Amino acid sequence: TDKYCVIGHPVAHSKSPEIHAAYAAQTGQDIRYERCLAPLDGFAETVQRLVAEGYRGANVTVPFKLEAARLATRLNERARAAGAVNTLVFAHGEIVGDNTDGPGLMADITRNAGVPIRGRRVLLLGAGGAARGALLPFVQEAPREIVIANRTVPTAEALVHDFAQVAGRHGVRLGAAGFDTVDGSFDIVVNATSSSLAGDLPPVPPGIFGPGALALDMMYGNQPTVFMDFAARHGAAVRDGLGMLVEQAAEAFAIWRGVRPDTAQVLRAMRP
Ligand code: ATR
Repeated sequence: TDKYCVIGHPVAHSKSPEIHAAYAAQTGQDIRYERCLAPLDGFAETVQRLVAEGYRGANVTVPFKLEAARLATRLNERARAAGAVNTLVFAHGEIVGDNTDGPGLMADITRNAGVPIRGRRVLLLGAGGAARGALLPFVQEAPREIVIANRTVPTAEALVHDFAQVAGRHGVRLGAAGFDTVDGSFDIVVNATSSSLAGDLPPVPPGIFGPGALALDMMYGNQPTVFMDFAARHGAAVRDGLGMLVEQAAEAFAIWRGVRPDTAQVLRAMRP
């Protein structure tokens, strides 16, 4: 039995153990996956202990994703671009850092929601860690345009600066805005701010939702977020972050085990 876990603080609420248990059962993989509460000042020690105990890998959640990127002995391109790591692989004395959050989001949009990204207009709300993690995967899908809108506009401008070159290579127009200065309408609007946690709505104009737009909040809970309610009132199809969670887990599972589980089954089972 190969051992894995999710490291966080807090971590009791994490749905990852049940998702990975479902994937293991479905694919016949002999793994154990548990929750691992790390002290706020003890992430590195926790990882070293897991390695010493023979764990094969781990997921990393709040608040350790940035620290995991610093701790990894090797980062792949998407983890480096994200500046954050949610998946660790312990192999051959190395701690390899990857980030499956962005790919999970792309899979949820294109496969689960059935919305193509290529050639479309994308609005990304927020410019923190979650938004940064989504940028390279979005750019690689070659939308026509990505506008990053943030409460603090210079942070959005800094992201545009950091990703200008790769966006250019993929023919993607990249722009920054404030919430109230977002111009035009979009096919895909992703809320990557943490505003939903506080029950706040980013003050964006209702006209941002184009005909048939998809609005996705990276957060999830038992109720729709204020952003989802707002988007639904203005004609968008809405999704929460549960699909992204299930997809990032599938991507991590595939990295560790070399087999890709069927996510649709697990996503259906998790919807209340
Ligand atoms: P995460 O890892 O969740 O992205 P983060 O890096 O702290 O967390 O980034 C939080 C993001 O949510 C930022 O874009 C932040 O905006 P600022 O850059 O202006 O701080 C945004 N955010 C947090 N609370 C918000 C609120 N109540 N309304 C709007 N945006 C908010």
